[in-house]
Amino acid sequence: MKGLSPWSNEKTPSFFVSPAKGIFKDFSSGKGGNAVSFLMELEHMTYPEALRYLANKYQIEIEETETTPEQQEELSLRESLALVNQFALDYFEKTLWETDEGKQIGLSYFRERGFSDQTIKKFGLGFSPDQNDAFYKASQEAGHNEEHLLSLGLIKEGQYGKYDFFRGRVIFPIRNISGRCLGFGARALKSEAKAKYLNSPESELYDKSRTLYGMYEAKRGILQADHCFLVEGYTDVISLHQAGVEFAVSSSGTSLTSGQVKLIKRYTNNVSLLYDGDQAGIKAAIRGIDLLLEEGMNVKVIMFPDGHDPDSFARSVSSTELQRFLKEEAVDFTDFMLKALLDGQSDDPVKRAEVTRRIVESLSLISDQIARSIYIERCSKVLGVPEQALVNELNKILRKKRYKKSGVKEEDIPPAFPLEQAKPKPAFTADPLLHEKEIARILISYGTHEMEVEVENEEHEEEIITVSVAEYILHDLIQDEVVFDSTLYGQIIDSFKTNFEESGEFPDTSYFVNNSNPEFSEAIASMVTSPYELSENWADQHKIYTDTEDQNLKRAVFDPLMRLKLNRIKRMMKNVEVELKEEQNEERINELLKEKMKLNLMKIEVTKFFGSTII
Ligand code: CTP
Ligand code: MN
Repeated sequence: MKGLSPWSNEKTPSFFVSPAKGIFKDFSSGKGGNAVSFLMELEHMTYPEALRYLANKYQIEIEETETTPEQQEELSLRESLALVNQFALDYFEKTLWETDEGKQIGLSYFRERGFSDQTIKKFGLGFSPDQNDAFYKASQEAGHNEEHLLSLGLIKEGQYGKYDFFRGRVIFPIRNISGRCLGFGARALKSEAKAKYLNSPESELYDKSRTLYGMYEAKRGILQADHCFLVEGYTDVISLHQAGVEFAVSSSGTSLTSGQVKLIKRYTNNVSLLYDGDQAGIKAAIRGIDLLLEEGMNVKVIMFPDGHDPDSFARSVSSTELQRFLKEEAVDFTDFMLKALLDGQSDDPVKRAEVTRRIVESLSLISDQIARSIYIERCSKVLGVPEQALVNELNKILRKKRYKKSGVKEEDIPPAFPLEQAKPKPAFTADPLLHEKEIARILISYGTHEMEVEVENEEHEEEIITVSVAEYILHDLIQDEVVFDSTLYGQIIDSFKTNFEESGEFPDTSYFVNNSNPEFSEAIASMVTSPYELSENWADQHKIYTDTEDQNLKRAVFDPLMRLKLNRIKRMMKNVEVELKEEQNEERINELLKEKMKLNLMKIEVTKFFGSTII
């Protein structure tokens, strides 16, 4: 079956599904795999999430063998807590829309702030009446467990009994990515209130370090834009969304954590920090930058004009102006740090040196060498400091870090980042694992096919026997002691070996496609699919394709095996030659020369197979 790729805006279908094989392959993006990896790619689910989703959809019971009774209890506790929070959310919403107090105080407040009714509904905003225990009573009537209400922080226990935690406030429900309500933020409406915001405490349900406000509403937008805006508050998120910028989320008052960054990383690698231009905003931004870089994100910063935050700014300009501003004002994190840290003292050399060092420290958090070298180049230009000086500083920091980690002395560690190495290397002309991949592909696609081969029997006579492709390949690899460089393809070979040893049978394609390792099934899917094979008149062409490959099966089996061996022989010869150049010991030199001769003979033997054309 074929259709339009869900990953690109194409007009001609290039997305193929083979129900028989249980795989999909998308030729526009190169993605491929089984049903589970499809969900992981498309919906950005984790592996367990995808399994649970599918099990639920097809009513397959999942046996969670790993869960202990305590864990089971915890799971059902979380379910109960989620129900209580949902009840609270409904109560606050109802109070906002349907009671006089809610309408007159809560709703009019939101409307004054410029939130449309549609926005208020989308974010599930609500209102808690200004009474001691209105919510508590309602939840009692609905039969909710007091322990749960207490542990969620919805009610408190005081000297005179239990009372509502949120009173006379507008309510912002905080939801996880699948829309489950984890807790609430509640803004005071009276200026004399002690705290402007009251927030739900952490609970069995609510882990603040792994939650971002607005993620549920923004996840689609983030995927579409391949970008995420990080802002400070609830109202920033909501105002941006209303202005059409639907990929903003907030860490809501707490400082950003790596758990939150990982949440974003499921959807995009590109993050812009949107903070006020005041000192607190700058400090928060710099902290955020380091954290984001450590998680491998691409980071930009957008600063707002004096006195403005994203919320107030979004309300003060038109949607088009806002979008233009966000596009034009986004600066690279290095530019931002330079400007923010220099703080107008750009002529002071001491200050410049200090700022340079601080920026290089952030650069040292980037693990991608190419990205790092591009930043070094940029910074060198902007700062007017030679690249080599920045590289030296960077190496110093990196070595210090390694020392801390490993305890190995600094001078014993070779420079982590020589300048030559930093320049992008030319692309490989050929995949170094090409032959290993091809052998694995032949094994998977044709492992059980039979072919006739000539062998020498015990009496040294030529004999023709029939063996399966898998038997032949495995035997050949073992005999010549060939070990694969690639873990992935090596694992495929091993699966064949162990499966055969255990059951006397070779695994078939579905065994690999349905493997639990998504990387594995993706690789397999692309190995056993070709656009040719899955094209329109699949059956016909399939037959032709396999027929021709069958005819040439022997060639298809021998060829990559021989090429792999030839490569290995060449590699060993090179090693011998390198050693020969350095070696002083007479005896060892003799050994090496013998080794070289042996390899040469092997090379000639293998080369014969290819005729004269190959070498
Ligand atoms: N915050 C908090 N407790 C406070 C103040 C702030 O938890 N006492 C958190 C809230 O998540 C808030 C964010 O920090 O959204 C940013 O604070 P602020 O800018 O003061 O709040 P806004 O959401 O912008 O609210 P408003 O515009 O209504 O003042
Ligand atoms: Mn604000």
